Amino acid sequence: MKHNPIGIFDSGVGGTSIWKEIYSILPNERTIYLADSANAPYGPKGKEAIIDLSIKNTEYLISKNCKLIVVACNTATTNAIDYLRSNYDIPFIGIEPAIKPAALKTKTNAVGILATKGTLTSELFSKTANLFANDIKIVEKIGDGIVELIESGKLQSEEMKALLKIYLEPMIKANIDYLVLGCTHYPYLIPILIDLLPNHVKIIDSGEAVARQTRAVLEKNDLLNTKTTQALNEFYTNGNLNVMKQLLGENFVVKYLDF
Ligand code: DGL
Repeated sequence: MKHNPIGIFDSGVGGTSIWKEIYSILPNERTIYLADSANAPYGPKGKEAIIDLSIKNTEYLISKNCKLIVVACNTATTNAIDYLRSNYDIPFIGIEPAIKPAALKTKTNAVGILATKGTLTSELFSKTANLFANDIKIVEKIGDGIVELIESGKLQSEEMKALLKIYLEPMIKANIDYLVLGCTHYPYLIPILIDLLPNHVKIIDSGEAVARQTRAVLEKNDLLNTKTTQALNEFYTNGNLNVMKQLLGENFVVKYLDF
């Protein structure tokens, strides 16, 4: 079991930002990454549809003998992880917007959060927000269109900049000092966001914490891969191969898979 792969899925290429964090602290682990780009974006779909897609991805990864699954998608985590945990027998790691650290650290008492509709309207998100951010102002923005632009290879585009300007404006007006990225596609926006935000605004996401949690759960379940040989990393997409290749760089092979 220890030498079995970690499965990772997202509605598309965004979860590669989480894969990178996992790879950097767990280089000996085998990984299988599934980008469900044909069904992206998940954000506007209802809870039932998001659960069904999460089941499909999970069952594929389980058929490949994955020992643990990272749901590298805030939308799938906040809508489907409870279902997955209660219906499958392996550990699941999820990702949620980092509201808690932002709420604890803010000095201006205003925090921005950019996420999908599915995440911001989920019960899990409102529970966390109520628990940690009662006394501060949270400026929530649904990042409509952002995932679609990234999935179609338009990360660096004027369209993207124009959209982000619109979403950031009310946050800047509210004097936020932290911007929480609540979608795994968004870390790829960081260079553009830095250009658009005032200097004092810090950007946080949960990628590193997810990688650390993955390591901790593997350790706890005695599932850490102890082999020191270079591990195999497999990437599959049911969408555009080139978009994913661009985000991963030349060292990794991306294959098309109809799942
Ligand atoms: N990467 C997904 C997330 O973290 C994007 C969701 C979507 O496809 O709308 O929420």
